[in-house]
Amino acid sequence: MLMDRINQRVKKIEISDIRQFDAQVSQIPDVIKLTIGEPDFTTPEHVKEAGIQAIKENVTRYSGMSGFLEVREAAASFVKKKYGVVYNPETEILATVGATEALSAILLTILEAGDKILVPTPLYPGYLPLITLTGAIPVFLNTAVNNFVLTPEMIEQAMIEHGKKVKAIILNYPSNPTGVTYSRKEVVTIAKTLSKYEIFVLSDEVYSELTYGATHVSLGEYLFDQTIVVNGLSKSHSMTGWRLGFTFAPEAITEELIKTHQYLVTATSSISQMAAVEALTKGCDDGAIMRQEYEKRRDFVYQKMKKLGFEIARPNGAFYLFAKIPNSFIQHSFDFCRDLAMKNKVALIPGSAFGKAGEGYVRLSYAADMEKLILAMKRLEKYLNENGK
Ligand SMILES: Cc1ncc(COP(=O)(O)O)c(C=O)c1O
Repeated sequence: MLMDRINQRVKKIEISDIRQFDAQVSQIPDVIKLTIGEPDFTTPEHVKEAGIQAIKENVTRYSGMSGFLEVREAAASFVKKKYGVVYNPETEILATVGATEALSAILLTILEAGDKILVPTPLYPGYLPLITLTGAIPVFLNTAVNNFVLTPEMIEQAMIEHGKKVKAIILNYPSNPTGVTYSRKEVVTIAKTLSKYEIFVLSDEVYSELTYGATHVSLGEYLFDQTIVVNGLSKSHSMTGWRLGFTFAPEAITEELIKTHQYLVTATSSISQMAAVEALTKGCDDGAIMRQEYEKRRDFVYQKMKKLGFEIARPNGAFYLFAKIPNSFIQHSFDFCRDLAMKNKVALIPGSAFGKAGEGYVRLSYAADMEKLILAMKRLEKYLNENGK
């Protein structure tokens, strides 16, 4: 049969559990969905204007493959100002179609069938299908045993077990789904450990601007030579639909990434690039207002859920809480979330959607307004009062 001849690796990939669950709960009338991993703010007005202006001025042709120099310069100055990292915009930065295309280009560029890649779990579900497509093998590092913080010992143990087969590691902080991020000391320690091995480090820092109580520390600062940092404007400037991301990596790596990127997409949208120039230069601090609002919401849901009996990992970044379902309730995360959504109309994502290490947990996204969050917490409290064992 023709369909049997489809690439078997593609056949292995499934529509993400998050999307499936979200589709199911969306059918429930009046449900409050705290499922979405997308900012609920609109793109800042002046950034939208820059996009409109670009269209009017006919900036509607292909940019060069790696993006307009202007947008790479803007990205270089943004990360220098914010995180003190220095990248040459001419040779070390690539503008991509969101962080997603950056991830695709990177994994296709470095992985071959049979290679191993270390992936701390719970993990962002976007990584695995891409790894599957390359034929590489993920090696999961369970961080649930250490409050979702990766330790040098976990890396070292995996390197002893899997040795030279390991080509790369993916880091993601602030983390989706846990909201955990790393302090400077933790970044330094991880960098020191990774520097002992000849492996690529993909550091997905797309939530860097949503770091609470401290400044984000980029791995690029301490492990420049082997790190490819991924970032973008989706979260920092509420620009998910504009599809604008970046890779930051040494020249030799960037040269290879450009090849893959070229044949995937040619270049990212010229219009979005011009909007990004505005966002990264004049809108450098646009994120501050959003961050303040997220922080307020985080404090509210964190305190409320703690009171209700959930254990929650250090929620110092992104806009997620990863909470352990209290013992006296359904422990299977899918069943718990389905039951809660059906009975009391609050939708959370089951932790198992982020890998086995997430079983027994739920992810709550507080990218929703305060009114919704207050009502959701009332409904959750009612559910817990009525459904304990
Ligand atoms: C950890 C992580 N990486 C990458 C992405 C993709 O971001 P983008 O919209 O820039 O493609 C997301 C989106 O939710 C994410 O959570």
